[in-house]
Amino acid sequence: MNDNQFAKKIVCVGAGYVGGPTMVVIANKCPEYKVTVVDISEVRINAWNSDELPIYEPGLKDRVDKARGKNLFFSTDIDRNIAEADIIFVSVHTPTKTFGEGAGKASDLQFIEQTARRIKENSTSPKIIVEKSTLPVRAAETMASILHSGNNSVRFEILSNPEFMAEGTAIRDMEEPDRILIGSHDTVAGNAARDELLKIYLKWVPKDKIITTNLWSSELSKLVANAFLAQRISSINSISALCEVTEADISEVAGAVGRDSRIGPKFLEAGVGFGGSCFRKDLLNLVYLCEYYKLEDVAKFWNSVVEINDNQMERFVNCILKTMFRTLVDKKIAIFGFAFKPDTGDTRDAPAIYICKRLLEEKARLSITDPHAISNARKDLSGIDERAEFVENPYEATRGAHALALITEWPEYRSLDYQKIFDSMSKPAFIFDGRNHLDHQKLFEVGFNVYPIGRPPLTHI
Ligand SMILES: NC(=O)c1ccc[n+]([C@@H]2O[C@H](COP(=O)([O-])OP(=O)(O)OC[C@H]3O[C@@H](n4cnc5c(N)ncnc54)[C@H](O)[C@@H]3O)[C@@H](O)[C@H]2O)c1
Repeated sequence: MNDNQFAKKIVCVGAGYVGGPTMVVIANKCPEYKVTVVDISEVRINAWNSDELPIYEPGLKDRVDKARGKNLFFSTDIDRNIAEADIIFVSVHTPTKTFGEGAGKASDLQFIEQTARRIKENSTSPKIIVEKSTLPVRAAETMASILHSGNNSVRFEILSNPEFMAEGTAIRDMEEPDRILIGSHDTVAGNAARDELLKIYLKWVPKDKIITTNLWSSELSKLVANAFLAQRISSINSISALCEVTEADISEVAGAVGRDSRIGPKFLEAGVGFGGSCFRKDLLNLVYLCEYYKLEDVAKFWNSVVEINDNQMERFVNCILKTMFRTLVDKKIAIFGFAFKPDTGDTRDAPAIYICKRLLEEKARLSITDPHAISNARKDLSGIDERAEFVENPYEATRGAHALALITEWPEYRSLDYQKIFDSMSKPAFIFDGRNHLDHQKLFEVGFNVYPIGRPPLTHI
């Protein structure tokens, strides 16, 4: 198709974990739309245009191959693509601010503002701007002020369309979403813009799964959804600590509690704590917003979810230290899994970063293995990694090790030959299963001393 034959031109600013996969799915589902993903990072765009995509997601490569060069394009020519676009998705990152007012809590909105200014400078025709990034409530107001500032007569209509996909299942979540949320102004122009976006999703999403709300509800719902998910993890993790001192078993407790249909079984697995680029950032942003609006008690409540998470990672490190005779100096510990969850190579805010740093402080030697996150792990620990090695092969990671600490529940870790691993390790050999992922009884029978989360350990010593 040549450019004029496309029904509409969609541009997405930000070719990251959200912008890339979302646009790949839209391009696959809407062949009559031209979809271009732009980014300031030439490295990222080059990777999207190559066979080595910049992110790992099951099913992503197939979908890219189907649409790339037909109606899906990746480019660094941001200005020209903005100028030609009818609909612009903004999917740049919104990390926690590290400086000045709100440091450590508020969202750093500099990339959003830069994008808004660039859209304004390069627009001569009306455009629909879709917030895909996770933003503080009322961010659309700021965006509108920038877009409509000065003597700019171009009309922009802003929509909020937060992304609920989870890394590792991004393609499935986008193709079969629980819901799509679209927030708009309740005006003629707002409703018209909302209908344009609806038209895209209705290509593959049943109508009853699409929720439309006012802009502020949509923006806030994304923060609240992540806060609720994180809160469930901290809730069960807090109870795992109680299980460990009372001989209750967290899996049994979670099973019994989750059978209540008002509670449900999902997100009730105890572990070393949540990670990823969103949960902590979005919780802290929520805390900041509550403090900004002088809702101190509400802020305190949500902040405790972060505190329990930090505490859970530290408890795991303490368990390793206490169990291994209170010294880790020169002991080799094999780290199984560095990504913040399975099926992704993403290590942003991964519990493994904190845990490895703490183990290195105790002067342990680490042998880190992960099916997809080794190169990110190397970057995350650079500068403090003289006692760490990074190996592809889990058998090599455990050879001569005093302990194995499982941090990410990659399915392949279940089917390893643990007799072979045990035979190659120093004795007594310890397993700290930070995700209750392995068959503990079997490991115990092989000879390991097994330390799960929230369950009594199985030990020979
Ligand atoms: N990663 C997730 O699982 C997830 C899920 C839902 C929502 N979100 C939200 O989506 C947003 C994006 O997250 P992500 O994980 O894709 O981030 P990311 O860091 O992977 O990608 C952001 C991209 O934006 C680019 N960028 C920054 N400023 C730019 C500019 N001015 N012009 C062009 N490109 C620019 C960066 O180079 C980067 O490639 C965040 O707000 C995040 O909270 C993320």
